[in-house]
Amino acid sequence: MVTPAPAGRAGPTLSVAIGRGLVLPNPIGVASGTFGYGFELGALCPVERLGAIFTKGTTLRPRPGNPPPRVAETTAGMLNAIGLQNPGVEVVRERYAPSWRSWPVPVIVNVAGADLEEYARVAGRLDGVPGIGGIELNISCPNVAGGLDFGLDPAQAASCVARVRAATTLPLIVKLSPGAADIAEVARAVADAGADAVSAINTVVGMKVSLALRRPVLAGSGTGGLSGPAIKPVALAAVARVRAAVAIPVIGIGGIADAADALEFFVAGADAVQVGTQTFVEPDAALRVLDGCRAYAGEAGLARLTDLRWSPGGPASGRGPGGG
Ligand SMILES: Cc1cc2nc3c(=O)[nH]c(=O)nc-3n(C[C@H](O)[C@H](O)[C@H](O)COP(=O)(O)O)c2cc1C
Repeated sequence: MVTPAPAGRAGPTLSVAIGRGLVLPNPIGVASGTFGYGFELGALCPVERLGAIFTKGTTLRPRPGNPPPRVAETTAGMLNAIGLQNPGVEVVRERYAPSWRSWPVPVIVNVAGADLEEYARVAGRLDGVPGIGGIELNISCPNVAGGLDFGLDPAQAASCVARVRAATTLPLIVKLSPGAADIAEVARAVADAGADAVSAINTVVGMKVSLALRRPVLAGSGTGGLSGPAIKPVALAAVARVRAAVAIPVIGIGGIADAADALEFFVAGADAVQVGTQTFVEPDAALRVLDGCRAYAGEAGLARLTDLRWSPGGPASGRGPGGG
């Protein structure tokens, strides 16, 4: 149901409470791995208007990432196998966080690790550091050995979250894998283990093959993470299923290129969204999405974007996961 804005109101309320005191000034963020650490695209996208910056996946020590070629265009998307190239958590603490302190936009550090110990140590190093608004736990990276496994299995995902929860008091957003057999079950498990919110989805495992070379285009194993418009239907389904499973905030990600795409995620059950691959096409894509969402909410008389949410129980309810 659409709730009309109260009379006399200047416009919709855009701020979103994520938990543990983290409040996004608006619900449109930029996705991990597509906006660096917030400095790289500053000249092309005024970061102070963003709802949140989700940084590149950060590990305990610096990582050079995978050898090239590690990105490839596909129909309606792209594949990447960056392999978590990042400067390591000490650089984030010492060099980046002091600048973030004065930014009005919350910077949420995306954390990755090869094992539970590394996840917990990175989270511990970020705890209490001024300028860091929260942690997004990447238990779903398809480009690093071991990194994906935690997100596929509810019990392993929960133990990773429990370890990290014990290591930090920062707001904790857990990023879910579209590869899980039952993403709703993983969402329930991480919520029970102490996640303040979940984000969905990370990339979908894919491969591009060169017939001329008779081999995959990407180096290494040849597989990478598919992102962009091609995965939007997968992401919308994931958000709807996760929304039905947990009470904590859900941040939708996957193939958002314009305001209409983002609004569809709010219908599916998102509380906020992230713009990823589209930033490579237009660095300030997230701001165009924000402006479009705000205009839509104003014209539709919405008090907040979450008023768009679809309530299962209508004529289409009761169906299974679909297909076939
Ligand atoms: C080049 C590239 C690097 C990425 N690196 C990360 C990362 O380090 N950590 C992470 O959680 N997600 C990473 N992602 C996944 C995105 O944050 C996002 O979940 C995914 O791309 C789907 O959104 P999109 O279709 O809007 O790009 C990366 C995506 C791309 C394209």
